[in-house]
This record gives sequence, structure tokens and C-alpha cells, in this order.
Amino acid sequence: MNPPVLTIDGPGGAGKGTVSKRLAGELGWHLLDSGALYRLVGLAARNRSIDFINVSQLTDIARELDVEFRVQEAGDLVQTWLEGKRVDAQLRTESAGSDASRVATIPEVRDALLERQRAFASAPGLVADGRDMGTVVFPDATLKVFLTATVEERANRRYKQLKEQGLSANLRALRKEMEARDRRDTERATAPLKPAADAWILDCTAIDAQGVVSMILERLGSVLSVRRAQQQQ
Ligand code: DC
Repeated sequence: MNPPVLTIDGPGGAGKGTVSKRLAGELGWHLLDSGALYRLVGLAARNRSIDFINVSQLTDIARELDVEFRVQEAGDLVQTWLEGKRVDAQLRTESAGSDASRVATIPEVRDALLERQRAFASAPGLVADGRDMGTVVFPDATLKVFLTATVEERANRRYKQLKEQGLSANLRALRKEMEARDRRDTERATAPLKPAADAWILDCTAIDAQGVVSMILERLGSVLSVRRAQQQQ
């Protein structure tokens, strides 16, 4: 029996990262932050001064990506190491997100990352956070959630997050960048951002992260008990 997989897809800034991390923590499951893989490809390309239209070199980077996600023993903090250097702060910048969204439009890059992502699915289970987790990477997932919120709310949340980290931020610019990224993610030909046909669409504009986590845990609990009952038959 395959390990259970819970996919959390949706646009940037809806809170997928926070929600996925908490879910993985509460369930004791593994976590795949697929956006980080696209961010890492963008970062590695910048480090090597590779042009963002150079498909074959970008694909090589994606295939050979030397990355390590180190889980700290003390808590649920994950450190990300690229080619021997810790890159957590660099990865979270808006420009890294924007670069990621550009490399993510390239089908060859997506293909090169596919098996790497699927390899994250192992016992006791996986929470997979991204844009195409339920549609492409894990089409047979146990439960698929599409987490969304209005662009105003998402820009506000990202603004607060950046301010809390002591970083400078401009709300209008953030909103424009978010709209551009949404457009690129939804309109690309390969694996565009869209809910899977069997996804549960959860609009969290007016629900906080813990509320979302509780709702998902409740639904997952029911799906898992049906799955267990089917296994026993
Ligand atoms: O979730 P994030 O902000 O870290 O993702 C960064 C970009 O990577 C996002 O704009 C689109 C791309 N991405 C993708 O195309 N497919 C995924 N599964 C995850 C992210």
C-alpha cells in the first residue's frame, strides 16, 4: 500500500507554506516544499550567470541540483543547503520567487524535478505543498486541497510577514508582483496552477492558519478511516 499523500496547492501567499508545515508537524509526516526546488533552480542559475532562456543549461541544473534539506533536531525548522552553502534567507526573497516562477514555465525543468519530488512520498505519509501536486506530481493523492484567498488578502499577508522579518516591503508593489506571478503560474502551458478535478477548494480569505489546519485534519481523518476500512475488506 502506498503511503498516504496530502497535497496542498494554490496561489502564492495563501498560506500553503505555514499550513503544510503545521500539518506535517501534527501528523508526523514528511514535507515536500516543491516551490523551494524551483526557487533553488533559479538561484543556482543566477549563481552561475545562466540566462533564463537557456533551456538546456537550466534543465541540467534542475537534474543535477545539489540540494540538502536538513531538519534541525530542536524543532521543525528546515535548513536548505545549495552546493554546500546555506541559502534559506536568499530563497525567501520576492526576486527568488519571481525567478522560480520563470524557470517553472519550462517543461523540461518541470520534468527533471518530477522523480525527485515523487521520491518524497514515504511512510508514514507526505504533505506536498505546491502548484501541481494534485494535478501532476501526485494524481492519486489521498486528499487534495486547493487553498486560495483573494489577491488583496494574500498581498496583505505577505506584507505582514516581510515586516515581521524586519524586511522592507511595499504593499502596492507586492500586489502587482503577486498578480504577475499568478498570471504566469495559471497561464503557462505545462502544469498550470489550477485545482485538480477532485480537489477540495478551500477559500481561506477569512480563516486563519490554525483554522485551516483544523479543517484539513478533520477531513483527512475521515478520508483515512475510509481508506483503512477499504484495506480491511
Ligand atoms: O510556493 P513558492 O512561492 O515557493 O513557489 C515559487 C514559484 O515556483 C511559483 O511562483 C511557481 C513555481 N512552482 C511551480 O510552478 N510548481 C510547484 N509545484 C511549486 C512552485
